[in-house]
Order: sequence, then structure tokens, then C-alpha cells
Amino acid sequence: MTTVANRVAVLHGVNFDVLERRDAAIYGGLSLAQLEAKISDWAHEMKLEPIFFQTNSEGEFCEYLHRAPDLADAAIVNAGAWTHYSRAIADALQLTGLPAVEVHLSAVEERDDWRKLSVFDGLVLAKISGKGPDGYREALELLAGELGAGS
Ligand code: DQA
Repeated sequence: MTTVANRVAVLHGVNFDVLERRDAAIYGGLSLAQLEAKISDWAHEMKLEPIFFQTNSEGEFCEYLHRAPDLADAAIVNAGAWTHYSRAIADALQLTGLPAVEVHLSAVEERDDWRKLSVFDGLVLAKISGKGPDGYREALELLAGELGAGS
């Protein structure tokens, strides 16, 4: 029996539950459900199986990462503001051992100085930012290549 490694955990962190209420000029005005629907369509086109998770609790985010190796073969992480300071989440991501891509809707490098730092630096295959929802499609493509999905 051949097992297919095609499950991608898509993790959203703090304040993504209210994405549609955040500055539309920066985040595009989509709700998280609308964003996840796009990601889901793209993933299925690439024969990937997305698994979505969002929390406003840093501890829950870490605990989900602790379970992630049993749930998924790869991860897309948009940890929101935690990206810029949570060493705990960076450690938990490292612990998964999963190939991961960091995504940001906005161009974090072109905003406040504190957003330029990412705790995931060196832990992820790529950091994709400033491309809106399309950044997730790029991340999925990268992970599909990494997992050999659809081939
Ligand atoms: C974000 C960028 C972060 O700096 C910010 O704190 C967010 C969203 C993005 O997707 O652009 O919450 O991760």
C-alpha cells in the first residue's frame, strides 16, 4: 500500500478570527472563512488536503503544533503578531519537523520595524509576504513540490 503525504495544516494565529474587521487596505477585507475557502480550492486543485486551525491563544497554537506531526505532512503558518516575538511558537514549529512555509497577507518588511523580525527565520522553507491570498497558493505550490503530491 502506498501512502500519500498530502495533508497540509494551515495555521492562523491571533486576530485572524476577525480578519474581515481588520484594515482592508492592508489585509484585503476577506473573512477567514473566505480566505480558507480559497486556500481549500487551490489545495484540492493540487491534490493536497488542507486542515485549518485558528486560535487567539498562544498556548493552544503551541499545543496544536505538538499534535501536528500526527495530523499533517506539511504546514503553512501565519502566526500574525506572534511571528515577531513568540520564541515559544518557533520552538514548537521546529519540534514538528514538518516542512513549513511562513505566509503573511501584508508586506511585513515594508511596515513597522518590529514586523521585520520573524522568529521563524531559518525554520521555514520560505517566507511569502505582501501577496494577499495568492501568497497561500504559492506556499501550497512549494509544499506540493516538496511532498511530491499530485505526481
Ligand atoms: C500578518 C502580519 C503581522 O505583522 C500582523 O501582526 C498580522 C497579520 C499578515 O498576514 O500580514 O496579524 O501576519
